[in-house]
Formats: sequence, C-alpha cells, structure tokens
Amino acid sequence: MSFSITARRSLAALFFGAAGLLAYGLVTAEGTDAALLERARGVFRPLPSTAHVDDYPHSPDRVELGRKLFFETRVSSDGRTSCASCHNPSYYGADSLPRSVGVHGQPMPRNAQTVFNTPLLISQHYGGNRVSVEEQALKALTSTFAYGNKSYEEAEEKLRALNYGPLFDKAFPNEKEPVTAEHWAVAIGAFERTLLTPGPFDRYLKGDTRAISDDAKRGLDKFIGYGCASCHNGSTVGGQSFQKFGITEDYWKATGSVEMPQLKGRDKGRFHDTGKPEDMWMFKVPQLRNVAMTPPYFHDGSVATLDDAVRVMARLQLGRQLDDRDVKDLVAFLQTLTGDIPPQFANVPVLPVAPFRAN
Ligand code: HEC
Ligand code: HEC
Repeated sequence: MSFSITARRSLAALFFGAAGLLAYGLVTAEGTDAALLERARGVFRPLPSTAHVDDYPHSPDRVELGRKLFFETRVSSDGRTSCASCHNPSYYGADSLPRSVGVHGQPMPRNAQTVFNTPLLISQHYGGNRVSVEEQALKALTSTFAYGNKSYEEAEEKLRALNYGPLFDKAFPNEKEPVTAEHWAVAIGAFERTLLTPGPFDRYLKGDTRAISDDAKRGLDKFIGYGCASCHNGSTVGGQSFQKFGITEDYWKATGSVEMPQLKGRDKGRFHDTGKPEDMWMFKVPQLRNVAMTPPYFHDGSVATLDDAVRVMARLQLGRQLDDRDVKDLVAFLQTLTGDIPPQFANVPVLPVAPFRAN
C-alpha cells in the first residue's frame, strides 16, 4: 500500500516534472523567438505595399503602358531586345546568364540583377550610375548594350509607327506631346514600382514566427550575428550602400573572376562611373530579395551556387570560414526572401499590332 502511494507520488512527480520541463522548454523557445524577432526588426523591415513616389505620379493606364513597353522588342535596334530579354519572368526578373547578352548579340560585362523591388534601392546598377528606375529606363533606350538607338527621336518615331500613340495619350493626358522618350521611361518606371515581392520573411517580421523554419531562424541569427546584416539590411536586405568587394583579399582570388575586355581589365565597380580612387572595387551591395532564384552570383556571375556565394561572402567580407551547418542555415534564411512573382509581371501583355520590319 505504502509502496503504491510512494510509487504514485513519484510517478506524479515524474509526470509534473516532465510537464514543467516541457513548459519551461516552450517558454524558452518562445522567449528566444521573441528576442530574435526583436533583433530582426532592428535591422530589417517588411517590404512596403508600393514603391510609388510623388515625383512620378502614376495611374493604372500609365502602369499598363509601362508593362507593355517593358516587353516591347520592336523599339530596339535589332528588333529583338526588350527589358524582358534580360529581366524575364521565367528567371525571377533576371536572365540566368553569368553576363547578359545585349542588342545585336554583344557580350555585356555584368550579370543582370532582378528587376523586382529595385525602386527601393539607393540607386540603380552595381556602380550606382542611375539615380532612379526612370533614369535607368531612359538611358537604356540609347545604350549601345541595351536598345542601341542612335537618339531618343529614333526611338520615339518607332513608338509612333508601332501604334503606341493612343496608349501614351491615355497614360499622359493633357500633354502636348505624349509620345516622348521621357514618358516611355516614366511609364516603365510606374510599372517597375509595382513589382514588389513580399515573402515568408515579411510575414515573420510582421509577427508570424511560424512563417519561417527553425533552420531559417538559425540562419537569420547567424546573418545578424556574423555581420552580414551590417551590409545587407533594410526592407530589401541590401541595396542601401556601396561597399568594397574583397575586404580581406582581392575578390577574384575567391570568385575566379576574369578580366573584362569591355572594362579593360578587372571590374573595379563604382570607379568606372566616378573615376574617384576611393570608389575602386566598391560595388552597390545587392539586395538579397529572391536571391535563391537568381543564380549565378556576383557582378559577373562568376559563382554558380548560393552555397558558394555565401562562403565567398563570409571569407571576403568578414574573414570567416563557414562550416556546412552555417551555410545550410544561412541559405535557409535567404530562401525566406523568395516572394511570389507579381501577376502583372508573370502574365505577359499583348502588344499593339503594327507593321514592323527589323533593321
Ligand atoms: C541586354 C540585357 C538587358 C536589357 C535589354 C535591359 N537590362 Fe536591365 N540590366 C542588365 C544588366 C546586365 C544589369 C546590371 C548592370 C550593372 O549593374 O552595371 C541591369 C540592371 C538593371 C537595373 C538595376 C537593378 C539593380 O539592382 O541595381 C534595372 C532597374 C534594370 N536593369 C531595368 C531594366 C529595364 C527597365 C530595361 C528596359 C528598359 C532593361 N533593364 C533592359 C541587362 C539588361
Ligand atoms: C562589408 C559588406 C558586406 C558584408 C559584411 C556581406 N556582404 Fe554580401 N555582398 C556585398 C557586396 C558589395 C556584394 C556584391 C559583390 C559583387 O558582386 O561585386 C555582395 C553580394 C552578396 C551576394 C550575391 C548576391 C547576388 O545577387 O549576386 C550574396 C548571396 C551575399 N552577398 C550574401 C552575404 C552573406 C550571407 C553575408 C554574411 C556571411 C554577406 N553577404 C556579408 C557586401 C557585403
């Protein structure tokens, strides 16, 4: 009898003890979760719902015109090149090539970044030589690599011949001359400003701690703790500053990057745009939104996999050797930055029917 009572008691103690431990475990996990979320909120923000700005008023007609123009190949000098050639829905707004192939098949020296979320970045291109997506689009019209038009007038004539007149009228009402290169750029910018891709990480930042896996949480913890977030931060997880690529050693020793004939040697980053010695080897920190979907990596696509890109980053930027567990966790975190492709980008538009003959 007494034996049985003691047995019951100790059984009960065992049961409640275990439950207590379990409860304690849960509390700690929740506590850690809350602390991690708090730290994450200190460096990152969810994506906003739109990237429109007062400088560039938009309207549904303007966005829709920009959508068409984004996919329009007939304005380019070979009749085959559009923004979507190098920023393709199938490749998450990039082109999957190490370096893009320009108009008339010209090899370009750099890797095309995704076009998603770019209006939120500090400036455009690795060297930051375009202040806005609108300026980027305007200059693409006459860039020898992108569209290859000799002048804006040449591009405007093509737009009129392609029956874009009525669409520009609707998008730019009350303008004396609606079909202009500037309006072409403003329309494309209006469209790009709709291409934001919130994903699981945004749900997490908004308080849904189950939106990302435990591996991803460990990765997030390391991303902040190891110092990745000192450069890759904000709502776009990067794209907010220029930093030297290759802090601990020359970058090409880790990436195997080769000299680029178009740049007369190694890519020196922002130096090519400013000529200032302090900009040598400085590149715009890329956003890491959708990074898992846009290999190959770095400004010249020299590294094929995300695992290797993460190892290279730790070695070159932080002097840290990662083990396999670190890489797995960091990559799991980066995967939470993959959002859905905006439907207005995934569904390609029908373009005006017009007589057309490529040059
Ligand atoms: C022939 C390929 C090609 C075409 C056509 C092209 N791009 Fe790009 N795009 C690139 C490459 C390569 C880069 C990276 C250039 C650099 O950083 O120096 C880039 C960069 C960009 C960026 C900057 C992204 C960032 O993270 O800084 C934006 C925005 C962009 N392109 C939009 C467009 C738009 C809009 C069009 C059409 C008007 C267009 N591109 C046409 C290849 C192309
Ligand atoms: C000191 C600033 C700095 C730190 C710290 C840093 N990065 Fe970077 N990161 C950059 C720059 C600059 C580039 C662009 C390099 C290039 O392509 O020229 C880059 C590129 C990348 C890319 C390739 C993106 C693409 O689209 O090609 C990934 C992935 C990346 N970083 C992840 C990380 C991770 C993970 C860490 C931490 C282990 C980290 N970074 C730490 C500055 C930094």
